[in-house]
Parts: sequence; structure tokens; C-alpha cells
Amino acid sequence: MKVLFIGGTGNISSACTDEALRRGYEVFHLNRGTHPEREKPGVRTLKADIRDTQAVKAALSGLRFDSVVQFLAFRPEHVKADIEIFDGITDQYVLISTCSAYRKPSLTPVITEETPLENPFWEYSRLKIACERVLEGSDTAADKVRDEEKARTEEKARDEVRRRSFSYTIVRPSHTYDNGWIPGCFGSASYGLAWRMLNGLEVVVPGDGQSLWTLTHASDFAVGLVGLLGKREALGQAFHITSDEHLTWDAIHSIIGTALGVQPKIVHITSDFIAKVLPERGAGLLGDKAVSVLFDNSKIRRFVPEFAPRISFAEGIRRSLAWFDAHPELEVPDKAMNADMDAILERWRLCAQ
Ligand SMILES: NC(=O)c1ccc[n+]([C@@H]2O[C@H](COP(=O)([O-])OP(=O)(O)OC[C@H]3O[C@@H](n4cnc5c(N)ncnc54)[C@H](OP(=O)(O)O)[C@@H]3O)[C@@H](O)[C@H]2O)c1
Repeated sequence: MKVLFIGGTGNISSACTDEALRRGYEVFHLNRGTHPEREKPGVRTLKADIRDTQAVKAALSGLRFDSVVQFLAFRPEHVKADIEIFDGITDQYVLISTCSAYRKPSLTPVITEETPLENPFWEYSRLKIACERVLEGSDTAADKVRDEEKARTEEKARDEVRRRSFSYTIVRPSHTYDNGWIPGCFGSASYGLAWRMLNGLEVVVPGDGQSLWTLTHASDFAVGLVGLLGKREALGQAFHITSDEHLTWDAIHSIIGTALGVQPKIVHITSDFIAKVLPERGAGLLGDKAVSVLFDNSKIRRFVPEFAPRISFAEGIRRSLAWFDAHPELEVPDKAMNADMDAILERWRLCAQ
């Protein structure tokens, strides 16, 4: 198997690289080469900015892949560019989407791949839905193209034919972390939350801290994702891949506190209030993190029987904190997180008075 990861040295894609190498796959990365120290022996790195279509085509010249995994598509035009780049040089294009695409507010707490996609709160999720739609097309859009555009311009017709023959799989991660992340509601890709706890500062937890949340270790996610590569049955299908450990936000903060040896000073503040003070933060809560959902992972288990999440959050956070201890230069405050939490706490206190 010859696989290309667009990214490859990131939070999720690093673990996927490890898993692909473990399986003996030939692994290629396409990235800008800003973190050569994160590249693994045996991986061939192609240097290009994925937003520069001509540079990407030049970097890929003469190569063909069984599967290409796109970790960096956030807008429909990114997927359209990918179709132009990868049509004819891969048998499977895997779009990394997001579980936040599932309907919010949720009508049922149990989420399957059949749950409709709709998120009026968070633009990030709406754009990911639009990315998925580029691959799937819709009957209405397809009819329209067939009846009008195909007849009108040959180029558009060619694009549509190409989209229809483009073999894809959609994968939706939920909150997924690895070493170097301390997952929280106000940013995860830093030491910020641990720093606040260690320094005795209050931490904001949305709602009453009792909504359920699912955190997945990247190495567990990787088994599911890499297991889908090269599987013909997975073409045209969408999958979410998460752990089965459901924790309240209070429990998540308490587990982080225990791993740090401190009692976190939790302040519960409603998501609606947070959204009024900081609309961007609120969007990620009302449209994702503050909504209790339970992911039914039976589909990924059916397609990839070896998928069996092993790493509890208590274990994953212990590993991540150990990683930070080995990189003390990164055990620093997260300025944006501090500014936002402090602003919310200040407004909350004013209202309480
Ligand atoms: N983590 C979660 O909780 C979660 C949940 C749902 C969905 N997702 C999805 O997961 C994906 C993120 O995956 P990830 O965490 O592995 O990635 P990441 O850490 O965000 O991405 C970093 C990787 O992408 C490369 N990169 C960044 N910009 C690039 C560019 N312009 N051109 C080429 N390479 C570029 C970086 O290398 P260079 O800097 O060297 O280029 C690095 O390899 C996103 O699509 C996100 O929406 C994540």
C-alpha cells in the first residue's frame, strides 16, 4: 500500500503515520517542511503548500497512491482543488471532516453516520459540511448540472464527470488529542489549561459541567483511519471514529487535575452567557463541545474489526503531561485562553453582583 498524508506531522496525522508504518505501508507526506524533526524514518516528504495547486502538482509529478488522506481541507474550494490534483493519481481520497458537522442542537444523544449534518452555530462545521457535499454532490445539484451547465460549458461538464468518478471516503473525528495537547473547551493545542490549574487560577467549564463529552487518543483514531485505507467497501462511505469513553466536562477537568496533582478551581458558566461575551468561543460550545452526544461506533468496527480504542483519558493525559515535562520550554501559558477565560469570569462576576 502506498499512502499519502497531506500534513503528516500534525496532531492526528502523526499517529496515522505511525500506524501506517507499523502496517508496512509506503508512506508519503505532503507539507511545507516546517517541522523536519517530526518526520519519521522511512517517510518520504514532498514539500509544497497545499494551497498552491501548481506547486503540489509539481511535487507529485509521476507519483500514484492507493490512498490520499487530506487532513487540511476546511473549505469547499479546498476539496475542489484536490479533485483537480488527485483525480487519476489515487484510488481513494479520504477527507478528514468533523463530528461537529452532526445536527446541533441534537435531536437524539446517540449519533450514527445517518444523523443529518447541520450546524447553525459554528461556521467551521458548516464549511466542513460543504466540503463533504463537494464529494457527494446532491441530486438537485447533479440534475441541475446535467440539464443546464453541462450543456452550457464543456469545462464545467468535465469537472462534474470527474467529481462523479472520484472515489472518496469521509472520516469524521471528534475531539482527538495526542502528546502536546491538553484537551479543554477553550483551546486544546497547548499547555494552557494545565498552566491555569497549576497556577491556582479558576477554569471556566460550560453549563453545569455535566454534559457528556468524548475524547479520543490519536493512536486509537489511527487504527480506524488506516484500517479504512485501500478498502473498496469504504468508498462512497462516511465514518466517525471516536473512543467509547463518555466523560462529563467536570470529570475531564478533574482527571487533568489529578494527573497534575492539583484540585482544579472550576467555575460553571452557561454556554449562552459565554456566547454573548465571546461569540467565537460560544459557537464552538453551542455547536459542539457543550452538546451531549454519544457516538455509535458500530460502523467503523464493522469495516475495521481491529479498531478497539485502548487509551483511557486518564492514561492519555498522563502521557501528554509526561511529554510536556520532557519539553519544559512548552509549559507556558496560553495567552488567548487566559484572556478569554479572564474576560468571561470578570463579566460573570459583574452579573452576579
Ligand atoms: N483534533 C481534533 O479534535 C479534530 C476534530 C475534528 C476534526 N479534526 C480535523 O483534523 C484535521 C487536522 O489534522 P491534524 O491535527 O493532524 O493536523 P494539524 O496538526 O492541524 O496540521 C499540521 C500538519 O499540516 C501541515 N500543514 C499545515 N498547513 C499546511 C499547508 N498550507 N500546506 C501543506 N501542509 C500544511 C503541517 O506541516 P507544515 O507546517 O510543515 O506544513 C503538519 O504536517 C483538520 O481537518 C481538522 O478539522 C480535528
